[in-house]
Amino acid sequence: MEIEPVETESESSKIKKSVSHGNLRRVHRAHGDATWTIEDSCSVYGTDRWSKGFFGIGDDGYVSVAAPTASGTVTISMKQIIDGMRDRELSMPVMLRIENLIDERVVRLNECFGNAIQTTGYRSEYRSVFPIKVNQQKHVIESISRAGETFSHGLEAGSKPELMVALAMVGGPESLIICNGYKDEEFIDLGLQARRLGYRCFFVVESLDELKLIVQRSKHWAVEPLIGCRVKLSTKVDGHWSADSGDRSLFGLTAQKLIAAVDVLREEGMLDCLKMLHFHLGSQLTNIRNVRDGVREACRYYVGLVEDGAPLGYLDLGGGLAVDYDGTFSTQPHSRNYDLNEYCVDIVESVMETMDRHDVAHPVLVSESGRWTVAPMSVLLFNVLSVTDFEPIPIEPDDSSEFCESVKCLLDVIENLNARRVQENVNDAMYYRDQLRDLFRGGQIGLRERAFGDNLYLKILNRIVFEVLPQLKRIPSELESLPDQLADIYYGNFSVFQSLPDAWAIEQVFPVMPLHRHHEEPRRNAIIADLTCDCDGKLDRFSDSEGDVVRTIRLHEFKEDEPYYLGVFLVGAYQETLGDLHNLFGDTNVASVAVTSEGRINFVEEIQGDSISDVLSYVEYQPQELLQRFRAKAEEALNSGAITADQRQKMLNLYREGMQGYTYFED
Ligand SMILES: Cc1ncc(COP(=O)(O)O)c(C=O)c1O
Repeated sequence: MEIEPVETESESSKIKKSVSHGNLRRVHRAHGDATWTIEDSCSVYGTDRWSKGFFGIGDDGYVSVAAPTASGTVTISMKQIIDGMRDRELSMPVMLRIENLIDERVVRLNECFGNAIQTTGYRSEYRSVFPIKVNQQKHVIESISRAGETFSHGLEAGSKPELMVALAMVGGPESLIICNGYKDEEFIDLGLQARRLGYRCFFVVESLDELKLIVQRSKHWAVEPLIGCRVKLSTKVDGHWSADSGDRSLFGLTAQKLIAAVDVLREEGMLDCLKMLHFHLGSQLTNIRNVRDGVREACRYYVGLVEDGAPLGYLDLGGGLAVDYDGTFSTQPHSRNYDLNEYCVDIVESVMETMDRHDVAHPVLVSESGRWTVAPMSVLLFNVLSVTDFEPIPIEPDDSSEFCESVKCLLDVIENLNARRVQENVNDAMYYRDQLRDLFRGGQIGLRERAFGDNLYLKILNRIVFEVLPQLKRIPSELESLPDQLADIYYGNFSVFQSLPDAWAIEQVFPVMPLHRHHEEPRRNAIIADLTCDCDGKLDRFSDSEGDVVRTIRLHEFKEDEPYYLGVFLVGAYQETLGDLHNLFGDTNVASVAVTSEGRINFVEEIQGDSISDVLSYVEYQPQELLQRFRAKAEEALNSGAITADQRQKMLNLYREGMQGYTYFED
């Protein structure tokens, strides 16, 4: 058992240490549940803060979903959903999609921009566009197109496959199709056919070469293109992608190249095709000031282009509308310091002010909000399989020999624990523990004595964390992370790399909470490990009750004979798309539900996750060939007398049936 040395201040400075009363308490030492309320649970998990009213905790102790429906909000229990999944033999892990939440977002985005336009007297309109890359799943795109029908909601495509999706799935010809990213001849030709069909399909130009190709292909097909130019703004943004913003951003035309693009189009007699100015400041814009600054700068480019003779008419603001993952309403990377209303009003006002000052007609405003639109609809549900704790276990010492010096010293430390000398106690315990390990390595002590000594060390740490530290008014800073080192490991039936890749890749903090048992106090501090055999396959960054990032989460005691379900929330954006096959864990089962006005839960779609045979074929194996190879081995064993014919048959059946099974842990 390896307990890490106490973290140094620099490593841990961004993460709040887990020293709170909740974290210094353990199940066997705590008082009963009588005083624990659902409100206490809401407070521990910050539910009211991050859920924006979509999720709560019901009287049954389960997470509840407040689903907006045509006749008002209808609240249902996660229990109904879990039971429904069980009835349909959809086993955990499951990616749950709640359609009502997609509908709500699409409608609200359009209504909020509409209101801002109305109240400010802006003299044009707003068009929403969904970037397919944020969640490409067919059912999601279908739901967005359906919900956005009355608003002519469009689609953004960044590649040829995405354009093919957009062409087939976009609503009426009023809806925009925005083509971003690098475009080859085939991409451009396809977009030009969309123009022929009457669609407002814009090519957003990233480079002069691309522009020349667009000009050439348009002439070839004799189709008038709709052209946009993406501008590289100098506005820097806060948050995770700060370094990639401003002059060092990867995409867009600089002022010089923008002017060169205008000159190319003028020379070709196609300047009237330049209808859009596009910019994208980055995703998850945490600070409204950055949004305002970016919009103002973009507007100056817009005015400049109009003054140079470009007709324009559309200003595309790209994405960036952020999600408040930790509910702190702040400029922390997982939050944002504005709400949708402020975002819309600030944009509309900023554009209007600049345009009016230069007497330029108000452009149609376009935004490509992906994250904000789809994050809330998806919840990853999974069950806990087992738990490892770091509590001492009874170990009998080897009475044939006398204890070595290190064990004697550890016994001495435990005898003399003292609140005033706690730092010294910890230092001593670590010193003698290390000495003990050296002795073991050198062959001077046996395994039983090593285990006995390790156990003493754990005993010391546990007593310090749960008995000594709670007595102190102020905990020495070096000991603040001590409780984290005793945190349990809850093993969950999921893969971080498949379902929550951003938790690993960019240290994204998602809200996590148990789906039930909220009448009970969660008294264990834990991190959550996934099924992959990878030390990065874990969740160990959580938002605590105050919205600070901490290393552990409070969970309920695991009971072997009862399922324990956890949910990771706000995962509808990017996660399904970016997930990969690490350890060959495939796509999870998916359940798309719609809550009706009468409170019924409609399982609109159930998608079985990848089978083992599916994932093997993704990496070029042919399941049938594998079976044949295995069969040959079994046949050989039968011929040599190592197994019976019956054993051979059972073995082959197991292999064949296993191929069709789920890649995750099955009951
Ligand atoms: C051009 C463009 N538009 C829109 C988006 C979506 O951004 P978000 O999901 O932050 O709304 C992105 C993503 O980074 C993008 O690159």
